[in-house]
Amino acid sequence: MCGIVGYIGDKQAAPILIDGLEKLKYRGYDSAGVCTNDGEKFIVEKEKGKIEVLQQMTGKGKKIAGTVGIGHTRWATHGKPSKENAHPHISQSESFAVVHNGIIENYMELKSELIRKGVKFVSATDTEVVAQLLEYHYNGDVLDTITKVMPMLKGSYALGIMYREMPDEIIAVRKGSPLIIGIGEDENYLASDVPAILDKTKNIYRLDNGEIAVIKRDGIVVYDLSGNVVEKTVETITWSVDAAKKDGYEHFMLKEIMEQPKAVHDTIIERIKDGRVVLDEIRLTPEQIRNFDKINIVACGSAYHVGVVAKYIFEKILRKPVEVDVASEFKYRDPIVDEKTLTIVISQSGETADTKEAMKEAQRKGSYAIAIVNVVGSAIAVEADDVIYTLAGPEIAVATTKAYSAQLAVIYLMAIYFGDILGKICKEDYKNYVSELLALPEKITDILDRIEDIKNTASKLFARKDVFFIGRNIDHALSLEGSLKLKEISYIHSEAYAAGELKHGTISLIEKGTLVIALATYEDLHEKICSNIEEVQSRGAYVLGIGCENRQHLSHSADSTIFIPKTCDMMLPSLAVVPMQILAYYIARFKGCEIDTPRNLAKSVTVE
Ligand code: AGP
Repeated sequence: MCGIVGYIGDKQAAPILIDGLEKLKYRGYDSAGVCTNDGEKFIVEKEKGKIEVLQQMTGKGKKIAGTVGIGHTRWATHGKPSKENAHPHISQSESFAVVHNGIIENYMELKSELIRKGVKFVSATDTEVVAQLLEYHYNGDVLDTITKVMPMLKGSYALGIMYREMPDEIIAVRKGSPLIIGIGEDENYLASDVPAILDKTKNIYRLDNGEIAVIKRDGIVVYDLSGNVVEKTVETITWSVDAAKKDGYEHFMLKEIMEQPKAVHDTIIERIKDGRVVLDEIRLTPEQIRNFDKINIVACGSAYHVGVVAKYIFEKILRKPVEVDVASEFKYRDPIVDEKTLTIVISQSGETADTKEAMKEAQRKGSYAIAIVNVVGSAIAVEADDVIYTLAGPEIAVATTKAYSAQLAVIYLMAIYFGDILGKICKEDYKNYVSELLALPEKITDILDRIEDIKNTASKLFARKDVFFIGRNIDHALSLEGSLKLKEISYIHSEAYAAGELKHGTISLIEKGTLVIALATYEDLHEKICSNIEEVQSRGAYVLGIGCENRQHLSHSADSTIFIPKTCDMMLPSLAVVPMQILAYYIARFKGCEIDTPRNLAKSVTVE
């Protein structure tokens, strides 16, 4: 997500901080800032935009005094990209300075409490709440104050903290988000990621969850939350800088596949309170929601595939007609849309020109547009009537994975939220949906734990020239994504096809050895998909089936199978997509393809 850098020593801190932030910019960010302590006061320079803006403002840091400081590159999650929301954040009496990675899930409650007590806030961020809490609860002992404040914070955080009266130390706290300490000669460093300091030192401590480090020029002491000293082992980094940027993974795509449990967890966790789905971002009244007579979904690529899955889910649960369009077609077909149409716009980047234009077309015709976007403050997010952010963090690989999964999670939240308002979900189903949604991250992890098995399967398939993905109902919607993932990064020709439609022509392409990947997770049509499997097998196809655990019928039908944990029908795509992502990744890897930046593709297509 964001980037953290800290320095304490005898050199001017700001140039070192900005240099470290520059090395973290690959992580994706929208603003940057530094704060030093010159022995009397904090000096803060921060701004929306790229590191270059900060470099120009500060003469690459040379204009800023102080030999101790913290710096940050922000990927907005709470509060749009702006100078006020950029880190570091300072408490109202300027006694504490804080930089933060992660999400404070209960920041609104904490903020309201502090406002009631007269604390004045200047930003919309969860991070400023930490700085204000530390100041409000300061009891004369910084370390004791921190150990008392940390348990108040729910969620994940990596924090760099400075207290103005103590210019000879930086305090680092870790819970969930990674944080390392660089060990130098009479100088020490703090960073969220190895690349920031790898040219300064290769010796580091990795903080573990619940640990607090007091970092001075001449030493580092690590404590647990009970105040006991923790003995840490020095780790010497042997990675290259490039490998370090991917946390040791060979590609960003693999790193992001592995981050999916967290992406789904972070996207849903603040929107489920006491067993109820809470979508405060949607400003529509229940009456307005009940007045819509249809839903239109517009998006491109994988985001469009989320829309196709959503059609099955919304029509089944909400009993409202749903149309799904690729955005580039929607805009130019003079769509039948009006104020009784709810338009849902899906986009990871929030900058896709086709999607943006399609949304504007719908709005021009009177439709209310809700956007599902991963980049805070992006064009689509700003121009939509409401925006629900996925909290997947920056997605670097061109082929989307964790953002796709986070978008699906938002669709489930909307289905439950709207279904409840429309009176289409009984109490028992509501409870089951919420329970299954909360269990999704762990079920995704179960599949990721079997990554070596799926890699082994990929090693037997990577030489194929043509691949078909088939499925029925929600499995057909999902097969679209499996096919695109494979095509995008392995350059193998692939087609997704409604399994029941093959026999109407395309089955003529099936011949001995054709690889068919059959999605067979949807229980109600299991027998049907199994007969489609036999249909293609009788013409020579090799069928890899993807289905729910202990569906023995599938293992008898398919030539090989990958099983996923069971869940409710509408959430099956979140599980079945993971093996397909892993298959695509390893098939491309075995073929020696580029993977993170495939030929001809861009991460965000900002032209029509
Ligand atoms: C998916 O892996 C591709 N990168 C591409 O299809 C992408 O989903 C599409 O271009 C839409 O991008 P967006 O979600 O940023 O709007």
